[in-house]
Amino acid sequence: MIKDEIINLIRDKRAHIGIIGLGYVGLPLAVEFAHNGFSTTGFEVDEAKAKAINEGRSYIGDVSSSAIAEMVGAGRLSASTDFSPLAKCDAIIICVPTPLRKTKEPDITYILAAAEEIKKNLRRGQLIILESTTYPGTTDEVLLPMFEETGLKLDEDFLLAFSPERVDPGNPQFQTHNIPKVVGGCTDDSTEAAAYLYSQIVSHVHSVTSARVAEAAKLLENTFRAVNIGMANEMARLCYALGIDTWEVIRAAATKPFGFMPFYPGPGIGGHCIPLDPHYLSWKARQHGFDSRFIGLAEEVNSRMPEHVVTLVSDGLNDDRKALNGARVLLLGVAYKKDVNDVRESPALSIIDRLRAKGAEVSYHDPFVREVSFDDAHTEGSGAPLQSVELTDDRLKNSDCVIIVTDHSGIDYARVTSQCKLIVDTRNALNGELRRKASARIIRL
Ligand SMILES: NC(=O)c1ccc[n+]([C@@H]2O[C@H](COP(=O)([O-])OP(=O)(O)OC[C@H]3O[C@@H](n4cnc5c(N)ncnc54)[C@H](O)[C@@H]3O)[C@@H](O)[C@H]2O)c1
Repeated sequence: MIKDEIINLIRDKRAHIGIIGLGYVGLPLAVEFAHNGFSTTGFEVDEAKAKAINEGRSYIGDVSSSAIAEMVGAGRLSASTDFSPLAKCDAIIICVPTPLRKTKEPDITYILAAAEEIKKNLRRGQLIILESTTYPGTTDEVLLPMFEETGLKLDEDFLLAFSPERVDPGNPQFQTHNIPKVVGGCTDDSTEAAAYLYSQIVSHVHSVTSARVAEAAKLLENTFRAVNIGMANEMARLCYALGIDTWEVIRAAATKPFGFMPFYPGPGIGGHCIPLDPHYLSWKARQHGFDSRFIGLAEEVNSRMPEHVVTLVSDGLNDDRKALNGARVLLLGVAYKKDVNDVRESPALSIIDRLRAKGAEVSYHDPFVREVSFDDAHTEGSGAPLQSVELTDDRLKNSDCVIIVTDHSGIDYARVTSQCKLIVDTRNALNGELRRKASARIIRL
């Protein structure tokens, strides 16, 4: 049986692993397989990334260059822009982007491009796993027919499964090896082989009965976050209107030991997952005549937060008899979350765009992001690129308002609160003591 053949190869570490797409998801995964004794090839369309890997250099914060160099040196990890060696791989995992079109519909063209390369090189004995986040049905409605067009048959010749990725960039506590993995195959044999493969590199594998369940589970996880963050954001705006401290309210509610899980407001949601993934679910639901209202509402609330932040800045300046037009506004942090360099869908970009539209002179400081350009498909807004400025006392003193958009750990917040006049803190980055000692006026979300 094909399943037993593949499992035997995995057991003996003779299985050659191919990872398509070496980004935030694919690179840590490739390093993990290599680290656990598997000969691993990464397939990338970006030549610079492939070159960096082969030279032992990392471009992802959570993966060290030394880990890559060690695996490359041991001959267990390499990267290729030529896809023909896919034919040599026994297990192939697809980790390519799944963005949205401008119409907010799923764009699975990267998955299709990767699947085309697999199809050209498909042979008997391969296990193929899709990890890219996508709508339920992609694996068995889209990929399976493509692969069967070769004349090869599922279960008889190859196996096919979906296993969502849950990596949380910048989270030192949970990384690939200790995040439980959900696996669902198009057939039982596919589930079993894929689960066995992941059991080599992660501590817990949870098998489900189909690829669709695994696809839907991933979308539930991220929709759950989007909806709950939306609730927290709505609460923040409600509390602002009522003059109540949102953060104190959440802290108090969170003392309940059951039935409550704290979520926190912020300047808006960002990154490659939370703002996008729920749309994959609502799009698929619409195909079946189902209108998922929670998803639409969460998006509406979350996407209004940058506008709310600009209102807070404008209100703060107004109290100083100043206008946004001509005000010098400094953003602290532009990455979508703390301690990462990712600006994809970051609310900071929308805030910058809105401030510029009102005539503010905008600059930013972010130790992780040297430059932001506004012409990237992943970013919102338009206008000239900005470079991170140095966080000098002069700059803090001369800013009319400082907005803490991302609460990076390395920032000296005591210095910030002692040097500037007005701070809008969207992350509750300034604790009670800092707020008490601050000479700056502080407006919190
Ligand atoms: N970043 C996260 O935290 C995260 C977490 C969970 C799930 N995901 C999902 O994982 C998938 C990948 O996300 P990511 O953040 O790693 O994206 P990424 O943009 O960091 O990496 C994707 C890589 O794929 C490469 N690529 C694109 N098309 C290719 C092709 N046809 N062949 C080979 N390589 C190709 C790109 O050059 C890039 O290096 C997405 O579906 C995403 O939603 C991401």
